[in-house]
Amino acid sequence: MRYQLLRPSPPLGPSSGGVYVHVPFCEQACSYCAFSVVVGKEALIPDYLRALRAEWVALRETLTWTPSTLFIGGGTPSQIGSEGLSELLEIFSDESFEEITVEVNPESLSGQLVSALRAASVTRVSVGVQSFDAEVLRSFRRAHDPETARDALLCLREGGLENVSIDLIFGAVCESDASWERTLMMAMDPKFAIQHVSCYALTVEKRTRLHASVADHPHEDVLARRYRFADDLLADHGFLDYEISNWARQGYHSRHNVNYWRRRSYVGVGVGAHSFDSRRRWWNESSFHRYLRAIDEGRSPVVGSELLSATEIRSEEIMLGLRCSDGIPCDWVVIPDELQSFVEIREGRYHLKAEAKILADSVLAALLEKLDDDSKARSS
Ligand SMILES: C[S@@+](CC[C@H](N)C(=O)[O-])C[C@H]1O[C@@H](n2cnc3c(N)ncnc32)[C@H](O)[C@@H]1O
Ligand code: SF4
Repeated sequence: MRYQLLRPSPPLGPSSGGVYVHVPFCEQACSYCAFSVVVGKEALIPDYLRALRAEWVALRETLTWTPSTLFIGGGTPSQIGSEGLSELLEIFSDESFEEITVEVNPESLSGQLVSALRAASVTRVSVGVQSFDAEVLRSFRRAHDPETARDALLCLREGGLENVSIDLIFGAVCESDASWERTLMMAMDPKFAIQHVSCYALTVEKRTRLHASVADHPHEDVLARRYRFADDLLADHGFLDYEISNWARQGYHSRHNVNYWRRRSYVGVGVGAHSFDSRRRWWNESSFHRYLRAIDEGRSPVVGSELLSATEIRSEEIMLGLRCSDGIPCDWVVIPDELQSFVEIREGRYHLKAEAKILADSVLAALLEKLDDDSKARSS
């Protein structure tokens, strides 16, 4: 069986949710990255940790559900070092999480950091490898080379952290099919014993260095070919695709991310972090200094929110459901004739066909547009 069905064992109960903590510090700015990050501000790590603690203490009192998963993401959490991470994880030490994930980058991983993660009961580590091709890494302006990435994976293994995920990006201008194949094969090396892989097609975001060369980037047919190659290779190595960009060995899916895709509650702590309660989204100040000032002055860092309409909620359920291997119940939606070839029915649920997964964004956009037109036609 190729698909991993998540339904039989829902990872979180209805009264639980996730906590996301944003750590914005990075060694350098990667050429493709549009995330909220700061470079060269390590002197402010103690101030930031104090702010996170103050925000969490205030937030915790408002939660009506039990925090079940913790995800420390970035930016680069490992950039704050083993002492910084220990202090950060200590903020949450009164909680009983069933999963604690920390994102790390190869250049800032060390044996000491792995020991700190283990001491704080971290259950899952996600490593930003992106590629094992030196030229691709240089074009991304990554702070690591392939050897540093390999050393980091071995260091985690030797340190006894067995639930390790890696992030990969395909579609760099200088990447070839052969280079992508070598990257995937290196990731499958049994000595790393990786349990989870995320593969993303390179998105050329506005206001990034890469945007200047947007015209040189590979055609979507090339991206589709690389995606399908990864999908087949990962399946051959025992990885199950449970979401369009995510593959895991049985039982090693990210509970925290599945929580997002099931539209369950989560709160975000830190600069630019988002929160959600199934109907409403709200988000924190995205400027590092303004976030610190708000917390310092005892003000809420929340700067915006939106309440979703019933139609928006249903659209999100359809979109997220179809992106996951679980699919959606057939009675949620009438698939128009022109999109029927992209879906299949199994166990009374619609699923995207394997060959349609790389086209998911355009298929789902067409589906939602059609549903929107139908509902306007009904109400007029
Ligand atoms: C929140 S980011 C940062 C994680 C970590 N700092 C790193 O650099 O690996 C998480 C992942 O999103 C992916 N990502 C970020 N920007 C991307 C882009 N423009 N196109 C495709 N994938 C991207 C990368 O694979 C990255 O590891
Ligand atoms: S990709 Fe990661 S390391 Fe690079 S700038 Fe973005 S968050 Fe920082």
